[in-house]
Amino acid sequence: MAIRLGDTAPDFEAASTAGTIKFHEYLGDSWGVLFSHPKDFTPVCTTELGTVAKLKPEFDKRNVKVLGLSVDSVEDHNKWAGDIEETQGAALNYPLLADPDRTVATLYDMIHPNANDTLTVRSVFVIGPDKKVKLTLTYPASTGRNFDELLRVIDSLQLTADHQVATPANWTDGDDVIVVPGLSDEQATAKFPKGFKTVKPYLRVTPQPNK
Ligand code: BEZ
Repeated sequence: MAIRLGDTAPDFEAASTAGTIKFHEYLGDSWGVLFSHPKDFTPVCTTELGTVAKLKPEFDKRNVKVLGLSVDSVEDHNKWAGDIEETQGAALNYPLLADPDRTVATLYDMIHPNANDTLTVRSVFVIGPDKKVKLTLTYPASTGRNFDELLRVIDSLQLTADHQVATPANWTDGDDVIVVPGLSDEQATAKFPKGFKTVKPYLRVTPQPNK
């Protein structure tokens, strides 16, 4: 069954390049990103895994634990890791889950048979510390994901979890944000000491509250 926003992320136990992972226990109080790859030794995936390895400090800064998944074995993953380091200039520094029997891929609906009946699509799940799914993305095998965009969305998710704001189109950390429509003007005045600008009664803008 498809996983929807607000669902509890299914728990699982799986082998990985960093040993056996019990998913919920591994995440602990952190945020999590689970992202799947169609197959080991494939070109787009190789660039993606290297890109995420380089961005690991950015995920760490945000208290996010990253896990990749590819349906091949840990043995294959470990061989592929050498190629990733050689070609991308970054060693795998986060677990890559093995899923040869497609247990996790099935739990997370990562196989879309009308696209390909054996390979996983490029899924991304962002999971909050409450283990609820906060974001899902699905890309086809032929398109590598933009992991800077993923960090941008995590910034928005973490900001909007803590403050009664939403983020506008193309927002990046530090830009002005939107006061949620559920707050009255009086409540917004009390909540946002830097003030807010009313562009329309339903569109009120305030400086990012945690800056
Ligand atoms: C890739 O990662 O390069 C890839 C995987 C499956 C199909 C097409 C591309």
